[in-house]
Amino acid sequence: MTAAQAVPASTTEVLRTPMEICWQFDYAIDVEKLRNLYAKAKEQQWNAERDLDWAVAIDPSKPIVDEAQFGFQALPILHQLSPAQRETFTAHVTCHLLSQFLHGEQGALMTAAALTHAVPDYEAKLYAATQTMDEARHVEVYQRYIDKLALVYPMSPGLKELIDATLTADHWVKIASGMNMIVEGLALAAFHNMRRQTTCDLLRRITENVLRDESRHVAFGNVYVGETIRDMHPDEREDVAQFAFEAVKAMVANQGGVDGRGPRRRDPGFLRVLAEVGIEPKDFVKSLIEAQQAGLRVERPPGQVHSFKDLMMPALVRVGAITDRTRALFADAQIPIFDDASVLEAMESQATGAIEFEV
Ligand SMILES: [Fe+2]
Ligand SMILES: [Fe+2]
Repeated sequence: MTAAQAVPASTTEVLRTPMEICWQFDYAIDVEKLRNLYAKAKEQQWNAERDLDWAVAIDPSKPIVDEAQFGFQALPILHQLSPAQRETFTAHVTCHLLSQFLHGEQGALMTAAALTHAVPDYEAKLYAATQTMDEARHVEVYQRYIDKLALVYPMSPGLKELIDATLTADHWVKIASGMNMIVEGLALAAFHNMRRQTTCDLLRRITENVLRDESRHVAFGNVYVGETIRDMHPDEREDVAQFAFEAVKAMVANQGGVDGRGPRRRDPGFLRVLAEVGIEPKDFVKSLIEAQQAGLRVERPPGQVHSFKDLMMPALVRVGAITDRTRALFADAQIPIFDDASVLEAMESQATGAIEFEV
């Protein structure tokens, strides 16, 4: 790739949180499902250094995804580009997405560590510690892979705000809702789709291993958070539900609505992708609108997972993070609520070992 490595003026940023940290001196294990999840996590630890073949060479100027499976190919403006320009576009869009995986995994690493501090039960602390290690490994593998592409894009502002709001929440249930349901709902679908789209064996292996870990993380949300929300005082439950509503609303707005057809939030990284190929942002937006008016949709091929419909909303509904009061708020905001948890449960069954889910 031709763009210079993106290194911000300052690479550190400090957040202050109101989180309470909790000791637990009762070491009895009384949440059987959590114990199983912890046992599974210990068994399934893998070593990025040893278990993956990093020697593979990658040409950063070539797409690492199958272009036929790439939703953007429906856009009229891409058909005006030369094949070489289209390859460049696909290569940079993929690099932009992988950069979001990398930054998102760092956010997951910090939220998992925060859960370890704050959850009140001993066995939940043990589980959260394994998630922290998992996320450290995920940061490591995506950083090493992106290093081969020689370019890292900055974190999209919408993803950054969502994870910041999660990290600085005042209750661990909000952190688990924001990370294990909303952000990991986004991530699971994106990983699942990348696993299907990529033509690079190394990236496929990385993503399969990451997916196996992530399915445990989503299962934790169900096993532990649901029970806690049910036992909460109604006012406290409404506070969690309000957090979930605001996080989903912001996420939907960032992505141009539930179906992705509205105006999206400005993303300086994506503007750089367009600049690499010489596409004017206004022409790209015009092409998106034309595609919509022509009935074309930048949509995923059959078999791909929809983060919002299949993972995020069913997870929130199932744990009780959507209440009657916030159902009305979702309706007012024209955000549909989906409660079919079948895709989510198929992914989780891999984490709990009931059946093998083909990722
Ligand atoms: Fe992760
Ligand atoms: Fe995770």
